[in-house]
Amino acid sequence: RRLSIIGMPMDLGQMRRGVDMGPSAIRYAGIIESLKPLFDEIHDLGDIAIGRPEVIVDKKSNLRNLDLVAEKNAVLAEKVDEIIQSGAFPLILGGDHSIAIGTLAGVAKHYQNLGVIWYDAHGDLNTAETSPSGNIHGMPLAVSLGIGHPLLTGIGGYSPKVKPENVVIIGARSLDEGERILIKEKGIKVFTMHEIDRLGMSRVMEETIAYLKDKTDGVHLSLDLDGIDPSECPGVGTPVIGGISYRESHLAMEMLEESNLITSAEFVEVNPILDERNKTASIAVELMGSLFGEKLL
Ligand code: ARG
Ligand code: MN
Ligand code: MN
Ligand code: MN
Repeated sequence: RRLSIIGMPMDLGQMRRGVDMGPSAIRYAGIIESLKPLFDEIHDLGDIAIGRPEVIVDKKSNLRNLDLVAEKNAVLAEKVDEIIQSGAFPLILGGDHSIAIGTLAGVAKHYQNLGVIWYDAHGDLNTAETSPSGNIHGMPLAVSLGIGHPLLTGIGGYSPKVKPENVVIIGARSLDEGERILIKEKGIKVFTMHEIDRLGMSRVMEETIAYLKDKTDGVHLSLDLDGIDPSECPGVGTPVIGGISYRESHLAMEMLEESNLITSAEFVEVNPILDERNKTASIAVELMGSLFGEKLL
C-alpha cells in the first residue's frame, strides 16, 4: 500500500488568513512519522504553489477570488489525477474547504459512482445566489454536484463529479436556508448532530457504510476539522459549538477503515493561527492514523 500526500495551502476560499499554513501545521504534527508504519511507502509531494495574490471579489458573481480558486483547483485536480494513476492513495492537506473542488475533479474521473462522505459542521452546498458570505469554501459540495459557477463546476472538463444519492453529510449543525432547500430537493443523506446524539456514532457510521457500499465504486472522505467540536479543534476559521467529539471521530475513522470503502481523503480547514499549540493539526494526524488502520492493541 502506497500513500501520496499533497499540500494545498489555499486560503482564498474564505476570509481568515492562516489556513494556508494548514499543510505545514499537519506536517509539523508528525504526519509522516505517524503514518509510516501503516504503509509500505509514503511520498510527500509537497505543496501546490498558491502565491500571495490580492483578494479580488468577482464583480459579476460576487464570489471572492473566483479566478484564482478555479485556477489553483485545476492544478490540484491534475495532481490528484496523477496520484491515482500512479496507484497510490491520495491524501490532500488543506487549506480551506474550497480545495475539495479540485480534489473531487481529480478523483471522480476514476469512478463511475464515487461516494463522498462530507464530515463537517457545514453543508458547503451554497451557490453565489444562496451564499451569505461569497466565500467559495462554503460551496465545494454544491460545485461537485454540478451546481455553481461554470468556472468551478467545469474544472477537469466534466460535470457533475458526484451524484446527490452518493453523498453523505455527517456532523451538520450550521446550514443556510438555500442549503436546506438543496438537501431536500436532491434528497441528500444528512446525519446532523441530532442524529449523532440520538443514534450514536456507531449506528450513524453503520448506516453510512450500508448506504454507500453497494452503489459506489470508491468513496472520498472530505473531513473538515470544524466538524469536530471547537473545544477539541479550535484551530478552524468557522467554528460551530455542539460538534462531534474526539472519541466519536476516532470511532468513525476506525469504522471507515474496517469497511475498506475509502479510496481518497482530504483533511481541511486547519488554521494554526487560530489554534492552541497545534492541537487541531495533531488531532487531524491522529484521525488519519485511525482511518489508515492504527490499532490501540
Ligand atoms: N455556510 C457558510 C458560508 O457559506 C459557512 C461555510 C463554512 N465552510 C467551511 N468549509 N468551513 O459562508
Ligand atoms: Mn506554507
Ligand atoms: Mn465546515
Ligand atoms: Mn467545510
